[in-house]
Amino acid sequence: MLQIVNLTVYYHTLKRAVLAVDRLNLSVKHGEFLGLIGESGSGKSTVAKAVLGLLPAESRLSGSILYKNQSLEMISRTDMEKLRGAEIGFVPQQAVAALNPVRTIGSQLSEVFRLRAGAGKKDAWRMSADMLDCVRIRNVDRVLHAYPHELSGGMCQRVVLAMAIALRPSLLLADEPTTSVDACLRVELLSEISTQQKVGNMGVLFISHDLALVGRYADRLAVMYGGCIVEKDTPEEMFANPKHPYTRLLLGKEGEPELAEQSPALSNGGCAFAQRCRYAVRACYQGQPNWKGDEISGVACFSL
Ligand SMILES: Nc1ncnc2c1ncn2[C@@H]1O[C@H](COP(=O)(O)OP(=O)(O)OP(=O)(O)O)[C@@H](O)[C@H]1O
Ligand SMILES: [Mg+2]
Repeated sequence: MLQIVNLTVYYHTLKRAVLAVDRLNLSVKHGEFLGLIGESGSGKSTVAKAVLGLLPAESRLSGSILYKNQSLEMISRTDMEKLRGAEIGFVPQQAVAALNPVRTIGSQLSEVFRLRAGAGKKDAWRMSADMLDCVRIRNVDRVLHAYPHELSGGMCQRVVLAMAIALRPSLLLADEPTTSVDACLRVELLSEISTQQKVGNMGVLFISHDLALVGRYADRLAVMYGGCIVEKDTPEEMFANPKHPYTRLLLGKEGEPELAEQSPALSNGGCAFAQRCRYAVRACYQGQPNWKGDEISGVACFSL
């Protein structure tokens, strides 16, 4: 359904160009739950924004993004807006920004049901209440009548998630949709997304820094570091047998190494993880490791 091939994104700032995503390959099948995992700054949101055509003007993109065999990097603004309104649900990292500040939650959420499902006013309101229930919001009536600024960050995130799921999208792109909620709720929301994924045969690209948590729900995992995918696998295989030193670090199978002296890794195109890697050899500083494996399972590392 979604196929990202050789995606490279630069941000051009006043002083320099930042390479945010580096020749990334990733795909999501119909009905598949893919977890894209990486630490802050690894380029996860940039991938999501590239798919949705939301990159800022000061960015440069190369590579290709196909959605149901339609090329997204060339698509017109109107067609992209249509896709976002119907086929691709998006929960941005800054959920509050996705809500209209001068309209109540109820009016925004019920509009989705009226436009998408052709529901009447009363039915749309009732469906909105049910949807808020799905994302574990209590005091549904109060929230429906509230304006976004009257809700907590975590509540806004859940409302935006509810709006995205209400679309019954073919693909849900969720960028850290549970960062502002507590650990128990996080598990509940993930399990709700996973249920919706199965019931609606919805593809999910779930972005998070929490490998262990997302791995409980994902069909496949892709681990990102410094703009590159370093390892892909099923959660079962990755948890049992993590290969890349960074994945091993995330899963607590390696101690955090002492930071090596400032290495020239990024500047001369070496492996981005080299300076944090206890297995780094000379080659790691000199060039990018090739991908060993396929779309389902593979790793990019010289030391393996
Ligand atoms: N508009 C921008 N202009 C310049 N640099 C940017 C811009 N947006 C992001 N970057 C840089 O691109 C890199 C990737 O950022 P991105 O937001 O994709 O990371 P992320 O993995 O989503 O991080 P987080 O987990 O903190 O959300 C970072 O180095 C970031 O500083
Ligand atoms: Mg982000």
